[in-house]
Amino acid sequence: MSINNKKTFSLESIVRPNILTLKPYRCARDDYSSGILLDANENSFGVILPKNDDKLFKENGETLTLGIENLNRYPDPNQVNIKERLVEFRKVPNIDYFFLGVGSDECIDLIIRIFCIPGKDKILITPPTYGMYSVCANINDVNIIKVNLDVEDGKFQLKTDEILNVIKEQKNIKIIFLCSPGNPTGTALSHESIKILLEDENYNGVVVIDEAYIDFVEEEKNKNGSLVKWVTEYPNLIIMQTLSKSFGLAGIRLGVSIANPNIIQLMNNTKAPYNISALTSHVTYTALSQQNILKMKSIKQQIRSEHNKLISSIKKISGIGKILGGNDANFILVQILDKNDQNIVSNDRAHQVYKELAENHGIVVRYRGNEIGCEGCLRITVGTPKENEILLKNLSELLEGDKKI
Ligand SMILES: Cc1ncc(COP(=O)(O)O)c(C=O)c1O
Repeated sequence: MSINNKKTFSLESIVRPNILTLKPYRCARDDYSSGILLDANENSFGVILPKNDDKLFKENGETLTLGIENLNRYPDPNQVNIKERLVEFRKVPNIDYFFLGVGSDECIDLIIRIFCIPGKDKILITPPTYGMYSVCANINDVNIIKVNLDVEDGKFQLKTDEILNVIKEQKNIKIIFLCSPGNPTGTALSHESIKILLEDENYNGVVVIDEAYIDFVEEEKNKNGSLVKWVTEYPNLIIMQTLSKSFGLAGIRLGVSIANPNIIQLMNNTKAPYNISALTSHVTYTALSQQNILKMKSIKQQIRSEHNKLISSIKKISGIGKILGGNDANFILVQILDKNDQNIVSNDRAHQVYKELAENHGIVVRYRGNEIGCEGCLRITVGTPKENEILLKNLSELLEGDKKI
């Protein structure tokens, strides 16, 4: 059968021009999908839930059945049970402050669609930052204004004055996306600088703070911790969190937005009716029991301890430059130095190491050398003790062994 029964049809002529020019979002997983996976900042220690399947939905002696026999029914469109647990966990007044999305990625897209008129409005991002803000803006034909973080000496903090100037000049900025702790910087942003943006008289848009890694911030450093407590004070603040990182549940795709109920209502009005599947909903509800939250916190402590060990060991490898950024997340950002001149960082060598690790040693990390302030850098997720040991052994062979590259 001919595949061209309608000769006059031209796909390209009917697709929105900005969609036609899109390049698919690429991650290390597109090229390498197996081995020791230290590229996507997942929780290497695994799911925080009990491993034994038949115990998956048991808690405190109460059995929560998965309810396969009920899967002919649509799930709860409002996910009230989950939100009630979130109220307690995140200390927010009531469930009207929560929106649940298919990962934070759905929240990013919805927020852009709600506030930005395609072809007219703009978002502001602060590179180096998470790539999906730009991807979603491009899909929605929304312009992107960039004000880089202060990258000097790996500070990775906001250049507040510069942002204020840009906001004053450019009238159509509707959303400022901040990432705290940052990806790929691993650094939490100063609360004072965020406050300045939230209170700026010239800005009539929302400030989104992506707190995907917030549970990894050290307890004592709570001054850099979550800003969820501000959502009752600022009607222009949206916080995004996710179960993909600290809870080890990237596979279920559950993102949370927390904001003033007026914004949450708009998000609920815009989402697909049953966006959270019954399966995801069951796992999320279980993960948010008090017992499992304690488990998450204990695994977070193990990750923090591995994080510190990884940094002190990796520093000793000659060929590794500075460890950039902070330790507020579950990954590190390391510079790779030139093979012949240890005074300069090398993008080429960093990329070679990335490829060599993946192709010949089964270890997948993320090359970040093309991001502003990250020249010559690899971003490496903290793995299990065993995985980190293998990583360190292979890295030192590649960088300082007899056959160094
Ligand atoms: C800063 C940041 N936000 C959001 C996400 C994605 O979250 P989710 O899995 O909930 O879509 C990531 C994933 O790497 C991330 O680094």
